Amino acid sequence: MRDMTDQDIPEVMEIEKRSFISPWSRGMFKQTLESPVARNFVMIEGGKVVGYIIFYEAGVEVHIMNIAVHPGHRRRGIGLDMMRRIIEAVRVNSVEELFLEVRETNVPAQGLYEKLGFRAIGKRKGYYSETNEDAIVMALSL
Ligand SMILES: CC(C)(COP(=O)(O)OP(=O)(O)OC[C@H]1O[C@@H](n2cnc3c(N)ncnc32)[C@H](O)[C@@H]1OP(=O)(O)O)[C@@H](O)C(=O)NCCC(=O)NCCS
Repeated sequence: MRDMTDQDIPEVMEIEKRSFISPWSRGMFKQTLESPVARNFVMIEGGKVVGYIIFYEAGVEVHIMNIAVHPGHRRRGIGLDMMRRIIEAVRVNSVEELFLEVRETNVPAQGLYEKLGFRAIGKRKGYYSETNEDAIVMALSL
């Protein structure tokens, strides 16, 4: 896993489009690359981007903003590996809690987070406006 750069954005966006109903735009990826509080990583295999993770680190809290694995590389532990690496990286920065939102219907992602010890702590009604779906808020205390 290494830091994401501007040059990775086209490959990242290809995965993003194949992963989400409302994919992030190029501008959104650029914004997180330029933000001093955002951290962006890509997982590389055979010279290609196979996954990425973006999160905000603010004091003792981390908010996972985006994570996806290329559809052709799923269910091989890449998602788990990326999450474990960032959890270990932020632990040494005295981070105490990680948060994220996940669609109610997103069973694969919920399975991944539960495996890491995340617990559902609440709901945000109609968070995903394009489908009016609720978000489950999940948290992991370190
Ligand atoms: C969620 C996602 C990142 C998981 O990545 P992945 O590399 O396939 O996940 P892993 O192989 O590390 O799986 C880890 C665990 O998550 C759970 N899981 C992953 N995919 C699953 C699926 N399709 N169905 C049920 N559980 C699943 C399982 O518990 C799995 O462990 P196991 O394989 O030992 O059973 C991937 O499915 C993805 O990119 N989805 C589209 C984007 C997305 O929804 N991102 C999350 C937004 S909140």
